Amino acid sequence: MQRVLLIIGGGIAAYKAPELVRQLRAQGLAVRCLLTAAAEQFVSPLSLASVSGDKVYENLFDLTEEAEMGHIQLSRDADIILVAPATADLMAKAAQGMANDLASTTLLATDKKIIMAPAMNVRMWQHEATQRNLAQLKKDGVSIIGPENGDMACGEFGPGRMSEPQDIAAETAALLAPNNTRAEAADLTGRKILVTAGPTHEPIDPVRYIANRSSGKQGYAIAAALAAAGAEVHLISGPTALDAPHDVQMTWVETARDMQAAVEAHLPVDAAVMTAAVADWRPAECKAQKIKKGQKIKDKERAPAPLDLVENPDILATLGAAKKNRPALLVGFAAETEDLETHALAKLQKKNCDWIVANNVALDSGIEGGVMGGDANAVTLISTKDAKAEIERFDIMSKHAVAALLATRMAAHFTPIEKTGNKGKAK
Ligand code: CTP
Repeated sequence: MQRVLLIIGGGIAAYKAPELVRQLRAQGLAVRCLLTAAAEQFVSPLSLASVSGDKVYENLFDLTEEAEMGHIQLSRDADIILVAPATADLMAKAAQGMANDLASTTLLATDKKIIMAPAMNVRMWQHEATQRNLAQLKKDGVSIIGPENGDMACGEFGPGRMSEPQDIAAETAALLAPNNTRAEAADLTGRKILVTAGPTHEPIDPVRYIANRSSGKQGYAIAAALAAAGAEVHLISGPTALDAPHDVQMTWVETARDMQAAVEAHLPVDAAVMTAAVADWRPAECKAQKIKKGQKIKDKERAPAPLDLVENPDILATLGAAKKNRPALLVGFAAETEDLETHALAKLQKKNCDWIVANNVALDSGIEGGVMGGDANAVTLISTKDAKAEIERFDIMSKHAVAALLATRMAAHFTPIEKTGNKGKAK
């Protein structure tokens, strides 16, 4: 499991630190907190110890702490250092290389990646000194998240509000993704890739439908990672609460049949990644009017009315069997609650895809918030080569990290277009 050292500065936004710890853990990351003396006025070490499940570090000059875990060791143990909230004071110290407390000493002693989420009064943020320090920190390789515009605790409006814990956690996880972050190392320039995501809704009547727990987060993260790697991405999404990812063309659909039609309309593509949790069945008929309780069916009062179901088309299997326009690389997902690899391998063969990403979607899968709806995933990648299954099992990681991993693998599968001019051909 990757580890974040969270340095909490002394600003009012420090009250969001426990929620930030929770969001980082939901991304599959381990968190250790370090509080500045001023931060202790805003958030209690005890609550941070409870949410992080680890000791909280506070003072450079605490001799016991130095003996047990010095500032060097603190940074050595972390994969990344996140400063949130990053106060004007902490930013100034880090920009100048000052080291007079545990937080600033750790920042100076580390060779790990540093991210800062600034939060301060709008005038402090806009002050030339802070802007100078910001420019220096960026030059030194520090990643900056935010600040956002908005109402601030001091009653003013403008830039200075700390970014939302969920966004900071997602960005941190993206920066920690294997094989370089956000698939920046992966090159899929010029490849056309189709991604399906989210659930489908199968209407029963004008107000009711059959659905499932899929949030669409994994598919959206994959679409974003592929686009970041230079691919031309078309995302066909069922109903979700998510914003469209950057640089991705979107088509919104409701039912499995709509999704299939949208997929067919966007062929040919070089690759397709089918993450959607397509409903396997739909009501045989969608009633024109709302079904009433106690409605008479065949002269009998029926409540609830029985639901006749018919099977939906299997979009992945149809693509896998297609004589025309079958993508050169077809990636399926297998949502399983038991016998993960056996079921996933059987699906790969039955639906004739090239790779399948299997995940355990049981509610007690050990992932906070569950796989369906949560921010983390633990996947197994099965790829066939010479009819022999290759199985790679990955530990819990954020959905962004899974996306970056897949983008990197897909880029490795294809020969970069600009180097060969060999458009559309897999290696
Ligand atoms: N899939 C699809 N169309 C369907 C059902 C599934 O395209 N009607 C795709 C999914 O997007 C996924 C893969 O097939 O890539 C496997 O989906 P999953 O729900 O795990 O499997 P099912 O085929 O529905 O089988 P089961 O519900 O029996 O596990």
